[in-house]
Amino acid sequence: MEDPFKYAHEREDEIIWMSQNTNELETTPIIQREIMNAVKSKKYALYPHQKGLLGMRKTLLKDLGLEEDFGAIITNGAIEASYFLTRAILEPGDNVIASDPSFMPIHHQVRLCDAEMKEIYVYKDPYHMTVDEVNEAVDDSTKAILLIDPLNPLGSSYTRSEVKGISEIAEDNDLWVIDDITYRDFAYEHTLTTEFVPERTFLIYSFSKNCGFAGMRLGAVVIPDHMFEEISRWRSNPLSANILAQVGAKVALETKDQWLPKMIEQSRKNQEIIKEAVDKTDGIHLPVFPSNTNMFVIDIQETGLNPDEIQEVLLKEHNIFVRGGTYVSTKAGSNFVRVSFTVPEPQVRKFAEIFPEVIEQMR
Ligand SMILES: Cc1ncc(COP(=O)(O)O)c(C=O)c1O
Repeated sequence: MEDPFKYAHEREDEIIWMSQNTNELETTPIIQREIMNAVKSKKYALYPHQKGLLGMRKTLLKDLGLEEDFGAIITNGAIEASYFLTRAILEPGDNVIASDPSFMPIHHQVRLCDAEMKEIYVYKDPYHMTVDEVNEAVDDSTKAILLIDPLNPLGSSYTRSEVKGISEIAEDNDLWVIDDITYRDFAYEHTLTTEFVPERTFLIYSFSKNCGFAGMRLGAVVIPDHMFEEISRWRSNPLSANILAQVGAKVALETKDQWLPKMIEQSRKNQEIIKEAVDKTDGIHLPVFPSNTNMFVIDIQETGLNPDEIQEVLLKEHNIFVRGGTYVSTKAGSNFVRVSFTVPEPQVRKFAEIFPEVIEQMR
């Protein structure tokens, strides 16, 4: 099919966006109010402070419980953070251990450094890397472990003892840990690797999913103090990030207890609605449930259907945009479609009604 994103953006308002793990659920009107105030006072006319909106870094570090020994660089999305971080720590010939399926754009960034990805196949129980698999993958050229926790696209996450085990491997082999915590706020439980290897950890942080800020493009990298100057040298944008996004993000974090629990409750209700529909349909299932993110994958192997064709029928005939698995996995992509569910409940209900019908029809 022609570029599905072009197709979907041309019909942006009619589309149900379940394709990119964006979040359209309610947070708090306070965020919009602060952003509108910043627009009215034309805050966008000036460059933000080079180190980010004043107070922003502190607020973020406080949210993570890391007020001491760490600094943060505020970036245009998490993706900018991982871009210059990989540039800063990798050299040609190095390798980085990560899973497949995964959030592949970071793997691409690693390859841009002429480094190699060592991908551990995780489309099998327990649907994430095990400590033993990570240990076995380490070799003399390994420089870092990319731990995406919770994991896009599967929704799996690592227990505290697994995070500890992976951190110990980093310690024993002198490796960095790139701990991508983009979906942390959706998890039932979550442990940062900073708890075990604070001096080896870089946290990749995004405001796209928890705050619903994907279009605002705001993220961060949290860096141990001893590496702050070195990593800062590599930043791709020394002029800071979108000021309106920063204004919104700061107040979002400051008021998190007022909106996050309700938003998560809706997200979990939405995944239940989809699960019910999947359970009623022959030949499809959810490998990971409940998901610790705002998405999961629906396994379609038994149907013999092609996920890209399912994506196309849903998009063209029903205005529902999901992603075929090839986007997030080189090896397992034909087995599943990825569906995110932080869209309004009526849209989730529509998906739950249509998806089983589409599967039956295509079969
Ligand atoms: C694991 C992971 N890391 C990073 C990103 C990029 O986030 P951002 O929108 O902040 O650039 C995504 C986006 O889907 C993601 O899934």
